[in-house]
Amino acid sequence: FATPPVPPMRITFDARMEPSGPVLTRRMSDLRGLFADTAAWEAALAEDPVVYEVASSPVPEAEGELPQSITTIHPGRVGGEFHMTKGHIHPRPRGEIYLGLSGVGGLLLFDGDKPQWIPMEPGTIGYIPPGWAHRSVNTGDEPYRFLAVYPGDAGHDYDWVLRNGMGYRVLSGADGPLLRPF
Ligand code: F6R
Ligand code: ZN
Repeated sequence: FATPPVPPMRITFDARMEPSGPVLTRRMSDLRGLFADTAAWEAALAEDPVVYEVASSPVPEAEGELPQSITTIHPGRVGGEFHMTKGHIHPRPRGEIYLGLSGVGGLLLFDGDKPQWIPMEPGTIGYIPPGWAHRSVNTGDEPYRFLAVYPGDAGHDYDWVLRNGMGYRVLSGADGPLLRPF
């Protein structure tokens, strides 16, 4: 172990599954280069709203550990494209599970070849196999919240998504989310 292992513990994010503990906040200004409509993104910078928050458990990101986090993506769109996470790939290929807690959204997966879309709602488990980049999208009009559990030695590479994209853009359509290849 690169860091000392932690003892068994009971971890609570609180009864309403609201983020508590260390929270990473991602604002519109943190999402440069991700939305297709650059003019709409620049217009949104005036208010620079919080797009999503990630509340992490105290389990360290170290080999053998299983850290967890709860992400809350606030509803909204940028030029018709739904609010989303930056997206990343794990440089050490590792599986990860997501569990939908509230709201509706989706899990976009990309292996550099073919994108996949997993609709998520409370109770859905989305499985991310090793080697697949992943991004979450809020396709509803209330906060979309999910639990993530991942091996502590996975690491996070955000540049891969900036270089390769995610295969689809997720836009708001008349009959629900519209997946447009790019
Ligand atoms: C961890 C994981 C999630 C995301 C979170 C925010 O491996 O996949 O906890 O980190 O949903 O998304 P990113 O990290 O892409 O900003
Ligand atoms: Zn991940």
